[in-house]
Amino acid sequence: MFTRALFMTALIALTSASPTILSSRQQPGDTVYYLAPTAKAAGTAVDGAVLNAADGGLFIGKNTATSCPSNYLTCGDFTNITAITLTGSSASMDVAVPGGQAAYISGDGAFGFSSPAAGIPPTATQTGFTRIERFAPTETYAAVWFKGSDWLACPVADSVGVYQVRAAAIGDKTGCIYFEMAAIEVGSEEPQAYQYDSPLVVS
Ligand SMILES: *[C@@H]1O[C@H](CO)[C@@H](O)[C@H](O)[C@H]1NC(C)=O
Repeated sequence: MFTRALFMTALIALTSASPTILSSRQQPGDTVYYLAPTAKAAGTAVDGAVLNAADGGLFIGKNTATSCPSNYLTCGDFTNITAITLTGSSASMDVAVPGGQAAYISGDGAFGFSSPAAGIPPTATQTGFTRIERFAPTETYAAVWFKGSDWLACPVADSVGVYQVRAAAIGDKTGCIYFEMAAIEVGSEEPQAYQYDSPLVVS
């Protein structure tokens, strides 16, 4: 007989958060940070803007795009804010989907993230992220760098007010706004989304 206890066990297995993807460079003792990224660039159009995951990248001026399987019982529990996890020098998206979604900087400098449990493009770099406590100690956020540099918000053609996030260490600076990535602790180890939508982009 398929007992209620068995059903509950299956339910718990289905709904419990799966561990975030572990990269090979990640050490077991590394602290995991759960961060919601925003832009800090006083006097510019992007100051204070939230960075949202959409189309496999991070954007200002686009809504976060997530999905959740229709047979998954607790989709409504996800906040669906854009959050990344930082461990050691690697970053990934703060998701529940098995296998996780690795974050990376593509060959042309764009912040990207993989499809669930998928690899990253061959020219992308997955390590080089650092969390820097460079703001006042009483603040609940820190800065995130990539290879020792801040970030660029680059206007997206034909989309007024939309900017794509690129690593200043790699990206082309023409027409882009330089900003600090101020990452606010989300204050929870529960994933913020089931998965962020990520059309497979190879660069
Ligand atoms: C979060 O997004 C999922 C789809 O990914 C949706 O099913 C769920 O209702 C959303 N949660 C909230 C709180 O809106």
